Amino acid sequence: MKGIFITLEGPDGSGKSTIMKHIVNYLKDKNLDFIWTREPGGTHIGEKIRNIILDENNKNMAAETEALLYAASRGQHVQEKILPALKEGKVVLCERFILSSLAYQGIGRNLGIEEVKMINDFAIKGIRPDLTLFFYVDPVTTLNRKTKQKGGDRLEKEGLDFHREVYDGYMKLLKMYPKNTKEIDATKSIEEVFEQSIYHIENILKRRN
Ligand code: TMP
Repeated sequence: MKGIFITLEGPDGSGKSTIMKHIVNYLKDKNLDFIWTREPGGTHIGEKIRNIILDENNKNMAAETEALLYAASRGQHVQEKILPALKEGKVVLCERFILSSLAYQGIGRNLGIEEVKMINDFAIKGIRPDLTLFFYVDPVTTLNRKTKQKGGDRLEKEGLDFHREVYDGYMKLLKMYPKNTKEIDATKSIEEVFEQSIYHIENILKRRN
């Protein structure tokens, strides 16, 4: 694969979207060939799946259904958008990927890491990021901030215990799969978080050139 696949991961409200916008501007200024995308969603079909997953009226969605929908959205995303871009040698910037499913569905929903990994491997044929920036920040504070701002979607409205479990799950997963993952201290100012992110992105870009 010629391109570079970079993902941003972390709890809800950890500032991924804000920093992503800054990274996008930075790469634009450098005239790099890149795409910017997100999960769940990223494609026409994926965005429809996103609406079903996050719709707060779907309160009775089974955890298994939820995990399969995330994997379905990801499968479409990889086939339609991510793989073609990587084959063309582009940088692919993606907010969230399989690590989110392992943390939220595997651990948060108690479906099991291996089980969730299995359905995802089927959906995405084992493709993994070249670099994952993980945004460390206390999930409780950030979540409060986010739900106050806009009410929150179905996942954001899950209780604090769920989000704590997801966070602890992330910690466990980062120990299990440390490869290609870099820590970002997301408690710092936007400028500092951006600088930390760019440091790692520059390193991987240099290594590829
Ligand atoms: P977003 O707010 O980062 O766009 O993500 C939507 C929600 O979906 C967020 O609460 C995290 C959750 N999520 C999962 O539970 N599993 C996944 O695989 C992904 C990609 C997101």
